[in-house]
Amino acid sequence: MKKNQLLTRRQALYLGLGTFVGIGALTAEELLNSFNQNQSFADTNRSFNIAGANPLKERAAKKGLIYGTSTTKFSLSLDTQHAAAIVKDCDMLVPGWEFKWTAGSANLRPDAENFDFSQADWMFDFATTHNMSTRGHTLVWHESLPKWFKETVNKQNAQQLLEKHIERVVGRYAGKIHSWDVVNEAISVSDGLPNKLRKTPWLNSLGPEYIDLAFRLTAAADPDALLVYNEKGLDYDDQIYDQRRAAVLKLLERLKSQGTPIHALGTQAHLSPGNNKFNPEKLRQFFRDVASLGLKIMITELDVSDKYLPRDIAIRDRIVAATYEDYLSVVLDEPAVIAVITWGLSDKYTWLNEFAPRQDGKPSRPLPLDTQMQRKLAWNAIARAFDNAPKR
Ligand code: G3I
Repeated sequence: MKKNQLLTRRQALYLGLGTFVGIGALTAEELLNSFNQNQSFADTNRSFNIAGANPLKERAAKKGLIYGTSTTKFSLSLDTQHAAAIVKDCDMLVPGWEFKWTAGSANLRPDAENFDFSQADWMFDFATTHNMSTRGHTLVWHESLPKWFKETVNKQNAQQLLEKHIERVVGRYAGKIHSWDVVNEAISVSDGLPNKLRKTPWLNSLGPEYIDLAFRLTAAADPDALLVYNEKGLDYDDQIYDQRRAAVLKLLERLKSQGTPIHALGTQAHLSPGNNKFNPEKLRQFFRDVASLGLKIMITELDVSDKYLPRDIAIRDRIVAATYEDYLSVVLDEPAVIAVITWGLSDKYTWLNEFAPRQDGKPSRPLPLDTQMQRKLAWNAIARAFDNAPKR
C-alpha cells in the first residue's frame, strides 16, 4: 500500500477499524497508527533485532522448549530447500496429513479393514533420520474422515472401529512418538449441545464418553507418549472465545476427575490480527487454570493470518511479527508450556492460501520463512520470544 493510498470504507471495516470508517478511508500510516491504539500491534519503530543467527530449535532448547513445524511428504520430498530449512530450524515434525484417517494424497485408511502406512512411515523416517521427534496428529477428529467411514460407522461398530484404529496406528510407533493429538476440536459452542460438545460422528455413535475411551485406548497402545487434547479458537477476547475456553476447561476438569490418561492441552493458536481483540491477562489466566490441573500445554499449530491486514507487505510483515512476539511473550511465561509448533515453516506451503485467502488475492505471509526460505521479521519475533522466555 502506497503511503498516500487510501483504504476503502469496506477495507477499514474489515480491519476492525469501524470507529474510523466515519471519517472515510485511511492512509497506511493512519492505519498502522490505528493499530497501535486499537490493538497494541507493531508500532512502526518497534525493533525486531536478534542476537546471533542460531536456529529457532537451539533458542527454544536453551529454555527447555521444543520448536517444530507441521509439514507434508509432498512438500518435503519435492522441495529439498524446504526440507533443509526444516531440519535446520526444527526439532520436531508434525505430519500435516499422513497420520490422519485421510487427507489429500495421504490415505492411511483405504477401507474399514486395511491401513496404508507408506506415507506415515515416510514422514516418521524423515524425522528420525534428521534427529527430530514426531507428533501424531490426529487420531479422533470430525474432519479428514474417509467416505467409507461416514457410510459405515454406527452405534454398533464405532467402538470396534476406534479400537482397531488406535491399536494399529499408535501401536506401530509405540515408544517412538513424542505426543499424540488423541482428540481434536471436540468443542463447538455453536452446536449448542450440553458441555458445548461438537456434533461429530464419534459423539453420535459413542456418546460423550468417546473422548475418555480414545485416551484410554491410546495410553494402552503407547504408555510412553504424551497424550494431548487439541483445540482451536482459545486465543482472543470475545464472548465466543470466553465460552470456548470455559468449555475446554470444564472438559479437562471432567477428564482429570475421572482419571482419564490425559497429559496436555494443545492450543492450536491460529492467530488472526486485525479482526480480534487480544487480552494478555485473560490468556494468562486460562493457561494458569489449565496448568493448575497438572497438565502441560503445547502451542500446536501457531501461525498468523494476514487476511485482514493491509496489502503493503512491509506493514503486514511488521504486524505479523508483532503478533507472534506479543502472543509468545505471554504464553511462554507459563512454565507448563513445553513446545511451540508452527503450522508450517515457509509461506510457500501455508494452508491459508487455500483455506483463508486474502480478499485481494495476494499470497499470505503468515510464517517465519518466506517462499524462498529466507527469514522474515516473523522469524526474528519468534527468536526474540524464545530468547526472552524464562527457562523451564
Ligand atoms: O494436495 C491434494 C491435491 O493433490 C488433491 O487434488 C486435493 C483434492 O483431494 O487434495 C489436496 O490435498 C488437500 C491438502 O489439504 C492440501 O491442500 C487435502 O485434500 C486437504 O484435506 C488438506 O487439508 C488439510 C486439512 O487440515 C484437512 O486435513 C490442510 O492442509 C491442513 O492445514 C489442515 O490442518 C488443520 C489441522 O489438521 C487441525 N487444525 C486446523 C488445521 C487447519 O484447518
